[in-house]
Amino acid sequence: MPERMVSDVLTKPDAALEMTLRPSLFSEFTGQAKVKERIEIAVQAAKQRGESLDHILLNGPPGLGKTTLANIIAKSMGANLKSTSGPTIEKAGDLAGLLTNLEAGDVLFIDEIHRLQKTIEEYLYPAMEDFKLDIIIDQGPNARSVRLNLPRFTLIGATTRSGLLTAPLLSRFPMRERLDYYQADQLQTILVRSGRLLNVEIDDAGALEIARRSRGTPRIANNLLRRVRDYAQVRGDGRINTALADKALAMLEIDQNGLDEMDKRILEAIIVKFGGGPVGLGSLAVAVGEEPDTLEEVYEPYLIMEGYLNRTSQGRVATELSFQKLGLKPRGGNQTSLL
Ligand SMILES: Nc1ncnc2c1ncn2[C@@H]1O[C@H](COP(=O)(O)OP(=O)(O)OP(=O)(O)O)[C@@H](O)[C@H]1O
Ligand SMILES: [Mg+2]
Repeated sequence: MPERMVSDVLTKPDAALEMTLRPSLFSEFTGQAKVKERIEIAVQAAKQRGESLDHILLNGPPGLGKTTLANIIAKSMGANLKSTSGPTIEKAGDLAGLLTNLEAGDVLFIDEIHRLQKTIEEYLYPAMEDFKLDIIIDQGPNARSVRLNLPRFTLIGATTRSGLLTAPLLSRFPMRERLDYYQADQLQTILVRSGRLLNVEIDDAGALEIARRSRGTPRIANNLLRRVRDYAQVRGDGRINTALADKALAMLEIDQNGLDEMDKRILEAIIVKFGGGPVGLGSLAVAVGEEPDTLEEVYEPYLIMEGYLNRTSQGRVATELSFQKLGLKPRGGNQTSLL
């Protein structure tokens, strides 16, 4: 059994907290300026024409605001949002039920849309394109296909793995937007707002300290804020400044660059067990006791972005920065070596 990682706690959504802190208007949604602008224009244009909004695919690592944006979009369209997710739609009938219960203009949000079964996905094609649903009624010799008209709805799909989406599904989203990791100053803004909503006294520098160490992810920033708040209450006077944030984060084993124990375990495994790489995802996952999917979706994108890791056709390779991070020297002859 892998022990519970700090990052596990940090990347798991906390429903109550997210309800409190989730912005409900575009104006409260910090960062992702280009994505936001494109979506806001589409929303405004659709509203002016009195039409439903085009289908939108939101793609990006966990905790960056896909669900939040879907909610904001529905609200600004003045539309109802019906939420479901790829794995919960088990039969074509489940999807048919969802689709036939929509009203004109409604937003259907399908989270983890890459996990939709292919057989079910095919029912979505005509639904998205022509607002028609072909259902089979009866079985055996009496089976026949009936075509139902659907109201004009908007599908918002969210995925952490757009690479797993089939080409026909991808092509049916006129708008595809990718969310990227946030800059520290954007997370700082988010944290100051969260502090206000949670009634926590946090100064700008304290917020920046947490922001810098939140892996570019609002969910992690908000979760860390809560942990730091606890620390401030028990070990301090309740106020969060840089020094206090630093102590609290050190206690949580979040290092200066925001890497946690699992990140370091990954880098260490590549370097120590696999000679710096290349190592395949499966072997690496076994070595660190984590699911391959989690490694690929949660940990690797950030490690790659920050320059600790490269993905090559042969597998994962540690960069010189990783060796430095762990206080190790790249071996001569190793392809990661710059010496
Ligand atoms: N741009 C933002 N501004 C302010 N807060 C944000 C922003 N984006 C996300 N958050 C906060 O981070 C939390 C997580 O965001 P959200 O649930 O939308 O992420 P997600 O991309 O849907 O993640 P997952 O892939 O795990 O479903 C939200 O509850 C919200 O409080
Ligand atoms: Mg989500």
